[in-house]
Amino acid sequence: MQILILQGSPRAKGNTAWMAEEFKNAAEAAGHQVTLVNVAHKHIAGCLACEYCHGKGNGACIQKDDMQELYPLIAEAEVLVLAAPIYYFTLSAQIQAPIHRCYNMMTPPKLKKMALLLSS
Ligand SMILES: Cc1cc2nc3c(=O)[nH]c(=O)nc-3n(C[C@H](O)[C@H](O)[C@H](O)COP(=O)(O)O)c2cc1C
Repeated sequence: MQILILQGSPRAKGNTAWMAEEFKNAAEAAGHQVTLVNVAHKHIAGCLACEYCHGKGNGACIQKDDMQELYPLIAEAEVLVLAAPIYYFTLSAQIQAPIHRCYNMMTPPKLKKMALLLSS
């Protein structure tokens, strides 16, 4: 399966990064195609709630930042893995931003499964 892992910890060698790497290695060994992206090191703004994507944008987000690189990967993903540290009892802001920015597509078209890798 086509697996996309979004890693949302700013610590490149931290616990979340380690879990994401291990998941990637095991999934590749099992024959899956895996893409791992550290979204904490990308420039991804929060959703503006402008509704452009649901109107004039016809599915496109008005904000042109690093999310543009992620949209094609998310559109192809059959499995989406969200890897994040817990910050104040919830997901890190770095992983929340790309989740909210999927408001344009709501449900990614090929997505069959999701998984969470959480570090606390
Ligand atoms: C801003 C901040 C808030 C945190 N809040 C929580 C929390 O609510 N609950 C918890 O168990 N750990 C909390 N932690 C600890 C991290 O979740 C924990 O150290 C995690 O393993 C960090 O992952 P990383 O190594 O990938 O950065 C917090 C850490 C930070 C920096």
